[in-house]
Amino acid sequence: MSLFARTQPAPLTRPAEDLPVRVRMVVGNWKMHGSLALCREMVPAMASIAHPAAALVLCPPAPYLGEVTRLATGSQVQCCAQNVADAHGGALTGEWSAGMLADLGCRYAIVGHSERRRHYHESDHLVAAKAQACLEAHVVPIVCVGESWIEHQTGQTEAILQHQLGTLLALSGWRGLIIAYEPVWAIGTGVAARPETIEAAHRFIRSRFAARDPVAGNNMTVLYGGSVNASNAANLFALPDVDGALVGSASLQSDALMQIYTAALA
Ligand code: PGA
Repeated sequence: MSLFARTQPAPLTRPAEDLPVRVRMVVGNWKMHGSLALCREMVPAMASIAHPAAALVLCPPAPYLGEVTRLATGSQVQCCAQNVADAHGGALTGEWSAGMLADLGCRYAIVGHSERRRHYHESDHLVAAKAQACLEAHVVPIVCVGESWIEHQTGQTEAILQHQLGTLLALSGWRGLIIAYEPVWAIGTGVAARPETIEAAHRFIRSRFAARDPVAGNNMTVLYGGSVNASNAANLFALPDVDGALVGSASLQSDALMQIYTAALA
């Protein structure tokens, strides 16, 4: 028997309401920052402006997921993990499953962020397996894709996206994914990609899914991430193929996140 025996749940039939609908979203990814004090400041502040017209999602570090879900109970604020295991259980010290997130009331999980791909060597195959585990547990995976600077400079963006999306399109439940286009070179630099670059990438991503199923593909939610801030958010949200944003550093300041979210509601 494998040392890492993993329990697998019975396959689930996806309910009809899980078919894609384009959703306006602002997702705040705190990365490995924050504190209990920040949870207690940020959740009530965001709950005071959160509106059903746009999802407002906070991704605290894992130790704070319980506190954020508790504080967000009864409000429009949703909780998201920054990572999740590809298995549903087993001898996997340090991991947590999508089922555990669902148990907590945490509705989303970021999968395949470029920082995890780079620092923890997550492959497209592992990212797809994590997304699959989320889908099976009814946790919505927000899957990050995007090219490096050198790939961007050498005109390889579509080839890289095509490759990253290929493993996702192989999942039977791909219609339940949310995609975040995050050009690696725009993350944490303070300089977002140009609007025409973002729109072209989002259109390409949507077209890959639409080629498989036009209705589902055209209804996928596609977010942009990479140096989104209070000054550029409104312009980004005006792009026809941008449904919302995955926000890193600006999500640690309630004023900035409130301004970004307000732009999403406009
Ligand atoms: P940033 O991070 O907004 O700080 O660029 C975005 C992300 O990594 O998701």
